[in-house]
Amino acid sequence: MTKWNNLELRPAAPLATPWDMGATASKNLSDVLNALLADVFALYLKTKNFHWHVSGPHFRDYHLLLDEQADQIFATTDPVAERVRKLGGTTLHSIGHIARLQRLPDNDAEYVDPLDMLGELREDNKSLIKSMRTTHILCEGHGDVATASLLEVWIDEAEKRVWFLYEASRRGSPTGLSEKGRKPLERYRDGRGSS
Ligand SMILES: [Fe+2]
Repeated sequence: MTKWNNLELRPAAPLATPWDMGATASKNLSDVLNALLADVFALYLKTKNFHWHVSGPHFRDYHLLLDEQADQIFATTDPVAERVRKLGGTTLHSIGHIARLQRLPDNDAEYVDPLDMLGELREDNKSLIKSMRTTHILCEGHGDVATASLLEVWIDEAEKRVWFLYEASRRGSPTGLSEKGRKPLERYRDGRGSS
């Protein structure tokens, strides 16, 4: 066992980066970006979960759509984490860290109706858009134009996901929700989970 296995003997990690816009901006932006990153990971895994477990007559379309969306969501994780490092903060370390920060709920249900999957992901992407718009305002307040410009692209991508999820849902119902699935989705919207 090396002395570095003993946490008390470890030196403070030299993680300071040359950020020139102040400690307050660094702290505020790191906090919101890390929460956003946790949500992005949660949404990525839920989208993959539904990609893996979707079933029914539109299996191929939904399976492929959700895989495309998962790839797009995953592609944002590294740039978000690296923005946090560039502005002097530290970012997520583990799945446990994600679980502590995520605001989007998981869905561990054994079975989810395909239209409810699309509806739930649509609501999650809408929540993500809201968080990104709030984060954008904070970035503007601190003069962080780099993060703000990245967020503009990610907001556009999330809006496209919402659009596709909405249109794909309408195939089965003009409202985008299955009659059978109304109850679970309403429960989900109330924050009580969909299982
Ligand atoms: Fe796959």
